[in-house]
Amino acid sequence: MKRVLGIMLVAAFLAAVAMTGAASAATGEELWASKQCKNCHNMTEKKKVGPGLAGVTKKRSDEWMAKWLQSPQAVWEENGPEVKDLRAMMKKENAPKTAMKTPAISADEAKTIIEYLKANGG
Ligand code: HEC
Repeated sequence: MKRVLGIMLVAAFLAAVAMTGAASAATGEELWASKQCKNCHNMTEKKKVGPGLAGVTKKRSDEWMAKWLQSPQAVWEENGPEVKDLRAMMKKENAPKTAMKTPAISADEAKTIIEYLKANGG
């Protein structure tokens, strides 16, 4: 009997852990830190390693931002109008590589980050 109870307790504990895991997708603020954005960007106009991000969501489409966040180097190589603009801003017209490197970012995480930028003046 004691053993059954023990097993049930363990099962309940595991179920609880699984449920909190599912419910606690990282917030924008957490991703801003854990994906290292804040090491390289200010949410103001002030440049850090990368450009200040004030107003960036008005300048760039959600679609472009989502692609950029998930694979900056690929977007850099495609060299579309946004990247041409970015190259001029950063004086990197001929650089083969972008300096933006982040931990892997999923499509959902990109969405959350974009919402976070919008809500915070980015
Ligand atoms: C290692 C530094 C670094 C990290 C980490 C980083 N960035 Fe960047 N980011 C840059 C640089 C540098 C550029 C400009 C391109 C270049 O010079 O290579 C840039 C460009 C951008 C742009 C384009 C700005 C524009 O005006 O079009 C956005 C948006 C952006 N970063 C958002 C983010 C977000 C959000 C994160 C976190 C998920 C992040 N960056 C993480 C360095 C970084």
